[in-house]
Amino acid sequence: MLPPHVVNIADLRRAAERRLPRVVFDYIDGGAEDEVTLQENERAFRTVSFRPRNAVCVDRCELDTNVLGSRVSMPLLLAPCGFSRLVHPRGELAAARAAAKAGVGFTLSTMSGYRLEDVAHANPSGPLWYQLYLLGGRAVAEEVIERARLARFTALVITIDTATSGMRERDVRNGSNVLMSDNKLAMIPFLPRLLAHPRWLTSYLLDGGPSTFPNIVVPGRGPMCLQEARAALRHSAVTWKDLSWIREIWPGPIVVKGVLTRDDAAKALDKGAAAIIVSNHGGRQLDGAPAALRALPEVVETVNGRADVLMDGGIRRGSDVLKAICLGARAVLVGRAYMYGLGAAGEDGVSRALEILRADLTRTMALLGCASIAELNQSFVAPPSGQPAC
Ligand SMILES: Cc1cc2nc3c(=O)[nH]c(=O)nc-3n(C[C@H](O)[C@H](O)[C@H](O)COP(=O)(O)O)c2cc1C
Repeated sequence: MLPPHVVNIADLRRAAERRLPRVVFDYIDGGAEDEVTLQENERAFRTVSFRPRNAVCVDRCELDTNVLGSRVSMPLLLAPCGFSRLVHPRGELAAARAAAKAGVGFTLSTMSGYRLEDVAHANPSGPLWYQLYLLGGRAVAEEVIERARLARFTALVITIDTATSGMRERDVRNGSNVLMSDNKLAMIPFLPRLLAHPRWLTSYLLDGGPSTFPNIVVPGRGPMCLQEARAALRHSAVTWKDLSWIREIWPGPIVVKGVLTRDDAAKALDKGAAAIIVSNHGGRQLDGAPAALRALPEVVETVNGRADVLMDGGIRRGSDVLKAICLGARAVLVGRAYMYGLGAAGEDGVSRALEILRADLTRTMALLGCASIAELNQSFVAPPSGQPAC
C-alpha cells in the first residue's frame, strides 16, 4: 500500500527507489551515456509556458479522446517497457490491468515476462498494442504477429531506434547483465546489495526470476532465454524494408516508434504508418538525440493530419501531457512515470501514477480555461522565447 503523501510522480519515484535494489531502480531510471537526452526530455517541458484563458468557468473537463479510432479516458497510453517482471513479479499483467481500470491504452513490449495472451486476458477492454522487436528473425516475428492478432491486439508498434543497444552506464556498473542472466548463481556477489531489499528479493525469488521471453519463440526450440535475447537485441535493427514486409503480414494499423526527424516521418507515412510516436526511447538509446518535445512540431508539420502523431519522453506531470497536445500530439505515452509506480507498489502503484496524472490533467485544464482536450491548440502555449506560438 502506498501512503497518501505520495502526491506526484517524483514521490512515486522516491518510493520505488526505497523499495527496489539499486540495480533494478537504475534500470528504470537511467539513460544512455551522460544522460543528456534523458534530462533534456524533462527540461524541454519546463521551457514551454502556458497562455491561460482566465475568468472562464470550467465545471467539467472532458479528458477523453480517440487514438487510432479507439476511445481512451485521457490522452495517454502506457509505453512498452521490457523486463517489467524484474521490477514486480506481476509485471506486465499488473500494468495492463491498471491501464484497463483507468481506461487508457497499454503497449506490451516484446521483452515481456508474460505471454501476450495472458496480458490480453488481464486487459479485456483495450486499446492493447504489441511492440515488436525483430529478435530471432522473421520466422519468430511472423508467429508472434499472428498470436497478437488472435489475442485481439489492435495495433503493432515497431520500434526503429534500436539499431544496437544504448550504452546505459548505470546498468553496466550495477551488474544488471548478471541479474538478467539465466545463471542465478552469478548473482552471489551481488547478494549483499539485494539482501538490503528483502521484500523485493523475496518476491523475485518466489517468482522464480523471469528466465525466458514467452513471446519470442524460436521455431523448434521454444522461448528465448534472457541472455540470448539481450544479445540478439544488439543486432535486431528494424529497417524500412522490414516495415514493408510487416505491412504485408499484419492487417491492422502500424505505429512507428522512434521518429525524430521530418525525413523519418515521411518514410514512416510512405510505409503505411497509421500513427507515429515521436520518441528517443526515453533517452536510453542515442545520447545527444533531441528532446522528444522539441522534435514534435517538425513531425506534426510533416505528417499534416495523415496519421496520428503521439510522443513520449520526459512526461512526469499532467501539464506535460497538455503541452505535448497543444504542440500537436494526439496523445502521449508514459514509461518511467508508471514503472516507478510498478516498482513502488505493483498494480496499485501503476493505478496511483495514472490517478495522479488524471488529477493533474483535470486541474490544469480548468486553470487553462479549457473544457475539453479537443479544444487545445498552439494558442494555449508560448514557445521558450516567450512569443505566442501563433
Ligand atoms: C524500463 C524501461 C524499459 C523500456 N523498454 C522498452 C521496450 O522494450 N521497447 C520499446 O520500444 N521501448 C522501451 N522503453 C522506452 C519506452 O517505451 C518509452 O519510449 C520511454 O520510456 C519514454 O520516456 P519516459 O520514460 O521519460 O516516459 C523502455 C523504457 C523504460 C524506462
